Amino acid sequence: MTSTTPKKVRVPDLALMKQRGDRIVMLTAYDATMARLFDRAGIDVLLVGDSLGNVIMGLDTTIPVTLDVMIHHTRAVTRGANRALVVADMPFLTYQVSPEQATRNAIRLFQEGDAAAVKLEGGRAVADTVRKLTAAGLPVMGHLGLTPQHVHRLGGMRQQARSESAAHELILDALALEDAGAFAIVLEAIPDTVAEAVTSQLKIPTIGIGAGSHCDGQVLVSYDVLGLFDTFAPPFAKQYAQLGQVIVRAAKDYANDVREGLFPKSTLSNQQTSDLAGRRVISSLNDRAFEELKGARVPVR
Ligand code: KIV
Repeated sequence: MTSTTPKKVRVPDLALMKQRGDRIVMLTAYDATMARLFDRAGIDVLLVGDSLGNVIMGLDTTIPVTLDVMIHHTRAVTRGANRALVVADMPFLTYQVSPEQATRNAIRLFQEGDAAAVKLEGGRAVADTVRKLTAAGLPVMGHLGLTPQHVHRLGGMRQQARSESAAHELILDALALEDAGAFAIVLEAIPDTVAEAVTSQLKIPTIGIGAGSHCDGQVLVSYDVLGLFDTFAPPFAKQYAQLGQVIVRAAKDYANDVREGLFPKSTLSNQQTSDLAGRRVISSLNDRAFEELKGARVPVR
């Protein structure tokens, strides 16, 4: 290891960052190339989110995303990330049935996907499972507020914890997750004031998405940040680039060049080769192919 190798972000580093007041930066990643680029940009945590169901697979919800798909993408992201902590989402119904089922499935994300941690949605309902996973040495990140795997129960993708009683329930959920051993909690689409209250009550860091500026860190779906996903843009996401437009422009230019015969261009050396030897090579290849065809011909009865 050289002295220029960046120090890898580990699970306990997030608690230290909260103590120091250093904001945690998290983005979703789904493949090795993007992971490598985000790593180079100094993103602390890469979340292999089941949002890949929406932005990679073109699904309306995250519900059909399977464990095998998550393992496949997690493995790709961990190959690309040198410094960032890689957290993998546990998909719908891979951890809700029983703590034993959750443990078996989480182990696959660690062993086959090489994840450093898993994230699962829910509060007190999954606290026993979080306790079991962390006791087995599998670090867990929680996720409260708008939990997309519960879209049907929640009645849509809308802000949560809006009433005083709902906010109270959410704080109890957050405390239960911390008590069960979660090392951080994503707070999605809740009022800033509720996120602030949760953040001040917990020792573990909160990571907000549509939850205001008082969380200990922020996460966004990378396709929203980069302007790649234009089917739906959540109001709280900020676009830092319009890569979708750049890609369409580049693909159009390529298509135009192919259609107009402008790509590929013959280089001088290619041209010389074809002038000198091209015709001879082509005719000898043709002859050989013809002979082989004749040899392979099946006699007609
Ligand atoms: O799946 C995902 O991308 C997420 C983030 C929105 C937090 O869970």
